[in-house]
Amino acid sequence: MASSQSLTILLFFSLVTFSFAALDPNKLPKNTAIHFPIRKNDTTLQYYTTFQIGESRTIIDALIDLGAESVWFDCRSYISSTYKRASCGSNRCQKAKGSVCVGCNSTPRPGCSNNTCGVFAYNPFREYLTAQELGEDTMIVSSTDGRSVLIDYDVPKFQFSCADAEIIEGLPGDDTIGLVGLARTQFSLASQISSSFNLAPKFALCLPSSSENGLGDIYVGGGPYYMPPSPQDQSYSLIRTPLVVNPVSTGPVSFEGAPSDEYFISVQDIEISGKRVSFNSSLLSFDKNGVGGTKISTIAPYTTLHASIYKRLVKDYVKAANLKKMKRVTSVAPFGACFDSRTASKTTTGPGVPDIDIVLPGNAVLVKLKLSGSNLMVEVKKNVICLAIIDGGAEPRTSIVLGGHQLENRLIEFDLSTSILGFTPSLLLSNTSCSHYRLF
Ligand SMILES: *[C@@H]1O[C@H](CO)[C@@H](O)[C@H](O)[C@H]1NC(C)=O
Ligand SMILES: *[C@@H]1O[C@H](CO)[C@@H](O)[C@H](O)[C@H]1NC(C)=O
Ligand SMILES: *[C@@H]1O[C@H](CO)[C@@H](O)[C@H](O)[C@H]1NC(C)=O
Ligand SMILES: *[C@@H]1O[C@H](CO)[C@@H](O)[C@H](O)[C@H]1NC(C)=O
Repeated sequence: MASSQSLTILLFFSLVTFSFAALDPNKLPKNTAIHFPIRKNDTTLQYYTTFQIGESRTIIDALIDLGAESVWFDCRSYISSTYKRASCGSNRCQKAKGSVCVGCNSTPRPGCSNNTCGVFAYNPFREYLTAQELGEDTMIVSSTDGRSVLIDYDVPKFQFSCADAEIIEGLPGDDTIGLVGLARTQFSLASQISSSFNLAPKFALCLPSSSENGLGDIYVGGGPYYMPPSPQDQSYSLIRTPLVVNPVSTGPVSFEGAPSDEYFISVQDIEISGKRVSFNSSLLSFDKNGVGGTKISTIAPYTTLHASIYKRLVKDYVKAANLKKMKRVTSVAPFGACFDSRTASKTTTGPGVPDIDIVLPGNAVLVKLKLSGSNLMVEVKKNVICLAIIDGGAEPRTSIVLGGHQLENRLIEFDLSTSILGFTPSLLLSNTSCSHYRLF
């Protein structure tokens, strides 16, 4: 199959709004949401979740990708009598924008059948795009009141695609066999769960910095959000900024004229210790080809900046660190500014290094996404910490990609009905984090 970065395909089928058969809205008690755990692999620096699917409750570990449109996983060892593939040209196939018919020459099983609806699945780690069998089955999910994980519910007819050996290849981590998309689409994990339960179209992430001391969270359907041991409901701490739409698709498959379904925000400025970093501000908006702007990514381990922003930022950062009497040491690739950690003080949020503020539009006023301590530094070896931001080169498609390290240990909420991103200050300031154990 084609693996080009921007394969434009024609829309064969008319667009039909996709919706699941209405489920009993009373099924879930009020003020209850759906919860999935998040683990981080310390080697690959990727975040993944776990879900159960099918009549045999197969447990699947799959990477979390905010920019991916759907859910896919390796079906080679998946057996389920309730699994249903979609046939070519069926209603289900049209709704899922099925584009080709796929067949298979081996023993029939989920992921291997003839005359089957093929939908696109994409492995972003090696830019591999292919059509895979569209399947559906019952997903088993857990409810939450925001404090504890409560009881299991069935999500019937969950749509996903069955991946083959080729697309699995290059997926980081031996522990993960698929990918969970959370982009602004009808087939993302969050959208399918929200519509099944009639929940608000919002989801929130709490990305852990490590899985050693507990797990992080995906909430689908809204708060409250409790982060033990803190007694606070973090939904009251959310700082809000609009999500903006990039009018040009940034995905591997673009439908003519369709906007990007990734999550962009409108950065106004970057400040170091309160001082503005000066760079060409036209990089912060989209040009006519959708190049530029700022997006949020869970698969980029570190924030990546356009080379011209990166250069200025590193220069200014080193200056600010110097004022704090931090000793600069030889850089360790891919990082451009490293310091002797013994020359930085210790604070609740990690090493006492200069803060970086990402300045964003709020509700009539500007707001700041404040990055400090452990959101900025990574320990690369004994006594050496580096600024955990990397150079994205001179011609990146997106000027600023806010990556995992900078998003950890705060709650981040994506409200798709209002198109607003909410984020809390670092949870470390409240003596808690995104690594916790919830009661079952
Ligand atoms: C698909 O059709 C071919 C040719 O008729 C056949 O050899 C193959 O076994 C079929 N595959 C499945 C999974 O039934
Ligand atoms: C993380 O990924 C590495 C590299 O693929 C793998 O060897 C390791 O088992 C994974 N860690 C966990 C905790 O599964
Ligand atoms: C700023 O960047 C834009 C887009 O990359 C470019 O067209 C423009 O010439 C740049 N302006 C300056 C002053 O460098
Ligand atoms: C967090 O813990 C520190 C030290 O134990 C304490 O001084 C501080 O007041 C606590 N902060 C909050 C918000 O509970």
